[in-house]
Amino acid sequence: MAKLLATGGRPLTGRVRAGGRKNSAVAVLPAALLADGVTVIENLPDIQDVWVYAELLRSLGVKVDLGPSGNGEALRAVVDPGGLTPHSLSEALVKRMRASYYLIGVLLARYGRAEVPFPGGCDIGSRPIDQHIKGFRALGADVRVEKGVVKVRASKLVGAPVYLDVVSVGATVNIMLAATLAEGTTVIENAAKEPHIVDLANFLNAAGAKVKGAGTDVIKVTGVKRLPGGTLHSIIPDEIEAATFMVGAAATGGEVIVENVIPKHLEAVSAKLIETGATVEENGDYILVRGNGRPRPVTVKTLPYPGFPTDAQQQMTALLSVASGTSVITETVHEGRFKHADELRRMGCNITVEGRTAIVQGVERLTGAKVKATDLRAGAALVLAGLMAEGETEISGVEHIDRGYEKVVEKFTSIGADLRRVE
Ligand code: UD1
Repeated sequence: MAKLLATGGRPLTGRVRAGGRKNSAVAVLPAALLADGVTVIENLPDIQDVWVYAELLRSLGVKVDLGPSGNGEALRAVVDPGGLTPHSLSEALVKRMRASYYLIGVLLARYGRAEVPFPGGCDIGSRPIDQHIKGFRALGADVRVEKGVVKVRASKLVGAPVYLDVVSVGATVNIMLAATLAEGTTVIENAAKEPHIVDLANFLNAAGAKVKGAGTDVIKVTGVKRLPGGTLHSIIPDEIEAATFMVGAAATGGEVIVENVIPKHLEAVSAKLIETGATVEENGDYILVRGNGRPRPVTVKTLPYPGFPTDAQQQMTALLSVASGTSVITETVHEGRFKHADELRRMGCNITVEGRTAIVQGVERLTGAKVKATDLRAGAALVLAGLMAEGETEISGVEHIDRGYEKVVEKFTSIGADLRRVE
C-alpha cells in the first residue's frame, strides 16, 4: 500500500496550477450520456474519480477515450454514448465514489429505468438520498430500494415542481439530469448554488437542453426531446484543490500563487485566511497567498455555497491547530466530518469535538507522526499538517487522496514541499 512521507519546516513557495474541478467532472461525464452524439470534455483533472467514472461509463457500453490533452496535467475525454445500454452496474465500481448516483438520473431520463447500487464516497456522515428520490418521484418515477440497489422506473417523466428540504448538490444535479429529457418544466426550489451546478447547466445548455437559473436557488429545466451532442466543454477550475494550496501557503509561512482559479469561487476561503492574518491578493485568474507568522484563531462555519465550503474545513483545521489561541469550527453540512481530529491529535493538535463543533486550542507546533487518511479531505489536511510539523509524518490511506488530488506529490514538491510517495 502506498504511503506519503511529509517532512515539515519548508515554506511552500512558487506557482502551482489548479486542475479541473472534481465535482464538476463527475457530473458532466455522466451528463454526456444524455446526448445522442459525441461529447468532448476538456480540463478534466487526472484523478482516480475521473478514471473510475470512465470505467463506469464503459461498463454501460459507452466508448470513452480518456487521456492527456497535451495541456499540462489536464485530461480530455471523448465520450460516445452510441453503444449505451442500461446494463446493471458493478457494485464495486459504483461504491468507489459518491457521484456514481448521477447515473440514476441519466438512465432514468434516457430509458425510463435504472438500477444502480447505493453509492460510496467519503465516510463523513449518514448521507441519505431521500431528496434525490423525492425529485424522481415528483417527475413520475416509481422508486424502490431493494437489497442495496436503487431501482427507478417511469413510463414517462413529466416536469414538476420539486422543493428540496435540504440544500443538496447531489439531489440538485440528479434532478436536473432527469428533467432534461422530461416532458414539460421542472422547477427545483431551494436548489444548491455551487459553481459546478452552473458548469453542468452550461454544458447541458450547450448540448441543447433548456436550463435556467443555475447558480440561484430556483432552477428551471424545460425538457427537450433529445440532445444532439457534438458539444465541446471545458471543466471549471477546482476551488478545493486551490484552497488546499492556499491554506498550505498560509500554514507554512510561504508565498504561493495558485493559477487557473476563479477568485470569486474562493471568496469564503480567502476571507477566512485574511482573518487568520495571511495576505491574499486576487488578480484575474490567480490568487497569491502569503503566510505571515503564526495564524490568529478564527471561527469557521461550513455552509452551502457561497458559504465556507465543507470540503475545505479539514484543511483549515490543520492550519488553525497552530493558531495563537482557540478556534471554533462548526460543520453544518456533513455531521461526521471530524475524523481527521483523531489523527491530528497524534501530531500534537489540541482538538475537542462535540457533535458538529470542533474546538481547537492552538499549539506552538505539530510534530510528525504515523497517521491515516480516512477520507479525501482528511487526507489533504494531514498532508498540510505533515508539511507544517517538525520531523516526518507518514500518511497511509493515500487512495482517498488520489481520488481527488491530481499528482499530489508532483504538485506539492513543485512549490517546495518535502513530500514523497513510498510503496
Ligand atoms: C457534494 C460534493 C461534496 C461536498 C458536498 C457539499 C460531489 C460529488 N460531492 O456531495 O464534495 O462535500 O456536495 O458541498 O459533488 N442530504 C440529505 N438528503 C439527500 C441528499 C443530501 O439529507 O437526499 C444531506 C447530506 O446528508 C448532507 C447535506 O444534505 O448533510 C449536503 O449533501 P449534498 O450537498 O447532497 O452532498 P453530496 O452531493 O453528497
